[in-house]
Amino acid sequence: MIYAPRLPRIGTFDAWRDAARALASNDVPPDQIDWAMQDSDAGLFGASGAPLPSARDMTVPKAFIPLARQVCASRTAGAHDLLYRVLLRSRGAPRLLSNRADPQVQRLEEIGKNIRRDMHKMKAFVRFREVTEQGANRRSFLSWFEPDHRIEELIGGFFTRRFADMDWAIVTPEVTMRFAAGDLSVKAVQSARLDLSDETEALWKTYYANIFNPARLKIKAMQSEMPKKYWKNLPEAELIPELIANAEAQVRVMQEQAQSQPPPRAAKVLDRLPLREMPCALASCARCPLGAKATQAVAGEGPRDAPLMIVGEQPGDYEDLAGRPFVGPAGQLFDTLALEAGLDRRAAYVTNAVKHFKFTPRGKRRIHQSPHRSEVEACRIWLAEEIEQIRPALIVAMGATAAQALTGSGTDVLKRAGRVEEGTDGLPVLVTVHPSAILRASNGSALRARLIGDLKQAVEMCDRIAALPPDR
Ligand code: URA
Repeated sequence: MIYAPRLPRIGTFDAWRDAARALASNDVPPDQIDWAMQDSDAGLFGASGAPLPSARDMTVPKAFIPLARQVCASRTAGAHDLLYRVLLRSRGAPRLLSNRADPQVQRLEEIGKNIRRDMHKMKAFVRFREVTEQGANRRSFLSWFEPDHRIEELIGGFFTRRFADMDWAIVTPEVTMRFAAGDLSVKAVQSARLDLSDETEALWKTYYANIFNPARLKIKAMQSEMPKKYWKNLPEAELIPELIANAEAQVRVMQEQAQSQPPPRAAKVLDRLPLREMPCALASCARCPLGAKATQAVAGEGPRDAPLMIVGEQPGDYEDLAGRPFVGPAGQLFDTLALEAGLDRRAAYVTNAVKHFKFTPRGKRRIHQSPHRSEVEACRIWLAEEIEQIRPALIVAMGATAAQALTGSGTDVLKRAGRVEEGTDGLPVLVTVHPSAILRASNGSALRARLIGDLKQAVEMCDRIAALPPDR
């Protein structure tokens, strides 16, 4: 007898779980099951398999469910079947999933990893276009994206949390996710690629063409960091082939002009933004309104293998102009106190929770304003990207905004200072005070001692971690 569960495009995991429970709890062997997506030609037996037996009670190892959710989104041939085989085997071996030497478990982990990678790319490369109608009381945004796998349901929650205060739709070739007035709907809808071109896109392309540096062209590196398949999601990508084709000739022109022509400012900024995948996307970030007023986005800087990451609030007036974090008064104080604590700032990766300067103009001056929680949330994706790429052993959160971005809570920083907490990215976060608080305080000596002490603790922790054998 052959069973032929057909999995719907929306609710794939739930349908797989229900069918797998019915089949596994009745000991149906994997070879009697033909798993396929509904509406696909992939199934050998069409939809006419035997009716599924009634499910009986069964338990599965806790770690199986999150992995199964991811694997169910995979387009890899045989993924649903493999998942079922591991499910059957794990009934008598609850530790099976932690056996990394098991070839089936290894394969499942690999599939899960590909899904997580696809989700990560979608988070980084989705570009929203504003489509707010006149008179509407909420702003609306639209985006087109082509993921490799069926990850829309897995990722809907991420975009909902990030963009809770606006309406948006993300359209993919098979699914439309729409978030309106606080409700997310995810529907299976076939769509042709949306053409979202407009003047903003034309402007962005001009900017990209101008900051593209042919002398630094490394096609392989470019394709591995921003694989070709993602180019279709980016407006600037259609310029890339022509820019590459003209690169050599342009380098010659640049060499001839080198003496007389200073590099454009934008190119300087972009060269310094150190992390892969971030520069282009961050420079054009419109996830919150702050970028519209600031001079530029300020990414973090420091060694890519830095064991310590220092996170502040947002660039200030000086940082906004210089395009580098912590170079103004607060930055200079930080450098001094860090040295007293035995920390050479250049050994750490220094960044901010929010990448644009928020200010209100007063005469000729720009007065700092604290970022709103929604702005911290909107910017969180960039900090997450930096954390993902640096993978520091320890993060220091200086002040409430950094604590909010890294731990989910920005309250009681003074009480929490010196404590190491678990960050939302799973890394240890040492909470401390911000150098600006010392500058503002009438008697800042207690805060100063606090910050020095906490930085000292951070250095010691990093030294201890570095001294551990590599597999710990
Ligand atoms: N304050 C911060 O939090 N970050 C900077 O980069 C500068 C001042």
